[in-house]
Amino acid sequence: MKTIELNHPLITHKLAILRDEKTGTKKFRELTSELAMLLCYEAMKDAKLEKVTVQTPLQKMNTYMLDEHKYAFVPILRAGTGMLDGVISVIPNAKIGHIGMYRDEKTFKPVNYFFKVPKDIEKREVIIVDPMLATGGSALDAISLLKEKGVKKIKFLCIIAAPEGIKLVEENHPDVQIYTACIDKRLNKNNYIVPGLGDAGDRIFGTK
Ligand code: PRP
Ligand code: URA
Repeated sequence: MKTIELNHPLITHKLAILRDEKTGTKKFRELTSELAMLLCYEAMKDAKLEKVTVQTPLQKMNTYMLDEHKYAFVPILRAGTGMLDGVISVIPNAKIGHIGMYRDEKTFKPVNYFFKVPKDIEKREVIIVDPMLATGGSALDAISLLKEKGVKKIKFLCIIAAPEGIKLVEENHPDVQIYTACIDKRLNKNNYIVPGLGDAGDRIFGTK
């Protein structure tokens, strides 16, 4: 599936502030959450609705609702948790799993240190959230771990994606739809996205 890049003046505006090195932790967290909410809104465009009858103060009507219990969000730790508030505001009854992953500083390969997902994860559509898709290694491993658990439908939401990471995920998991606020130019020699926003985890948690 071809990666969907959100193209909207509000996204460009919020992203510009997020990228700015002068933006502090509080604002960075707020914007990460807001962008996650907008990404999730876009990702739910193909959601299947169920027929329901609602009694308004005036009359009964037939309409449609989402079965929120069919979804699970899975943030990739740490930075992915910064997107959680935003996506949960869109589907408050979704369950939440966690995948702990960090990039080894020398090899840039992801190291998986935690995996805990809802028991019935295979019955749910899973929406992975992680602000940065750089080499794509973390995304690739997270998707594989979920597929090993029997998950059939996966979407991947990120704020900035590098062409290298998109290519890797699209080639290995063509069934996974990626949604991103922006596709940046490339990776630098340290496999950071440029122009990017720096280290998402450190900026969300203020660890550097
Ligand atoms: C960042 C980011 C992704 C990963 C992307 O996490 O949040 O998980 O790097 O890089 P990749 O596409 O090359 O795998 P990081 O390893 O910095 O861990 P953190 O979230 O704990 O800061
Ligand atoms: N992880 C980040 O937080 N930023 C990058 O640019 C690449 C990986």
